[in-house]
Amino acid sequence: MSQDNKYQDLETIFLDRIDSATNLSDLERIRVAAMGKKGQVSLLMQELKNLLPEHRKIYGQSLNAVKSKINASIKIRREELEKLQLESRLLREVTDVTLPIRPDSLAMGRVHPISQVLEEIVEIFSDLGFSVADGPDIDNEDNCFTKLNIPSHHPARQDMDTFFLKARSGCSRKVLRPHTSSVQIRTMMTQAPPIKIIAPGRVYRCDNDKTHTPMFHQVEGLLIDRGIHLGHLKWCLQEFCKAFFEVDKVKMRFRASHFPFTEPSIEVDIDADTIGKPGEWLEVLGSGMVHPKVIRNCGLDPECHQGFAFGMGLDRIAMLKYGISDLRDMFSGDLRWMRHYGFMPLDVPTLIGGLSS
Ligand code: PHE
Repeated sequence: MSQDNKYQDLETIFLDRIDSATNLSDLERIRVAAMGKKGQVSLLMQELKNLLPEHRKIYGQSLNAVKSKINASIKIRREELEKLQLESRLLREVTDVTLPIRPDSLAMGRVHPISQVLEEIVEIFSDLGFSVADGPDIDNEDNCFTKLNIPSHHPARQDMDTFFLKARSGCSRKVLRPHTSSVQIRTMMTQAPPIKIIAPGRVYRCDNDKTHTPMFHQVEGLLIDRGIHLGHLKWCLQEFCKAFFEVDKVKMRFRASHFPFTEPSIEVDIDADTIGKPGEWLEVLGSGMVHPKVIRNCGLDPECHQGFAFGMGLDRIAMLKYGISDLRDMFSGDLRWMRHYGFMPLDVPTLIGGLSS
C-alpha cells in the first residue's frame, strides 16, 4: 500500500472514531492513540526520516494535512461533548426558584436572638456610615494585648481569664481572643483613616455562671479621623441606644472607668426605665477615646488622628432588650426556648420597617 493510501485510511479510521466518541475521556483516549508519543500519527512522523529526501517532503506534507484534520476534528468534537456535558448538568442540578416557600418551614424555623440583635446593630451602624469588619477567633497576643497597651505581666491579661493555646515551636503563643478589640488593631494596621467600623464576633473567657459563658459575643466599634472628641462618641452612643431600644429619648449615664486602650475610659449605663424597669441603671457598654499609645502602636500619629472605640456584649444587650434572664439558655439549643425567644425568619430588621416588629 502506498504511503498516501496508508495516511488516508488512518484519517478515515480516526475521524470515525472521533465522531462516535460519547464522552470526554473516550475522546482523550482516541487523541492519545493518534497524537500521543507512541500514537499512530506520531509513529508515522518518525518513519518519515527513513524515506528518500524527495519522498520525505511530499509525504511529510500529506501526513501533516492528516494530522491537522484529526486535530481539528478532535477540537470540534470536544466542544460538542463539553456542551452536552454542561446541558446534562444543568438539567440535573436545576432548582426551581419560583416554587413558593414551604409554609411549615416558615412556621418552624426561628432566628436566634443573637442573630436578630446582630442584624439590628449592623442596620443601625450602617445607617451611621460604619462598615462591618472581621477578625479571627484565634489571634496572637500582640493584637489582643500588647498593641492595645496591655504589656505582658499587666494584670489585665489575667483579669480577662484568657484561654491560651499551646505555643508551637518558632511561633508566638496564640489565644482565643478575650475581646473583639483585637479587630481595632487589625483594622488600624491595614487601613488608612478615616476608619469607621464595627466588628461583631465570638469572644472567649474562662468563666461560667448565670450571666457568663466561656464563649459569648461582642461588637466592637472604632472611629478614627482628625479632630475627633468625646462629644462625637457621646452622640454616636446616644443615637445607637435610641435606635436599638426603639425609643425617642433615652436617659444615659457616662461613668469614668479604666481600660488600658482608652483614655479617658467611660462605661455607659442606661436608665432601666427605657426597657420598663424603673429605678435601676443598667450597664450596656465600655468605651473611650482610643489611647494615643494604641494609635502610635498601629503606625499612626496621635497628633493627627484621634478616635473613639466601644465594646458591648451582644448577648447582654439581647438579654436586656428581650427580657432573657439566663445567658446559658442562649447556647443550649433547646427548641422550646427558640420557639419562645426566636424571631420569624422573614421579618428582617430595618430602620424604616422597625427593628424588632
Ligand atoms: N474590650 C473591652 C472589654 O472587653 C471593651 C471596650 C472596647 C472598652 C473598646 C473600651 C473600648 O471589656
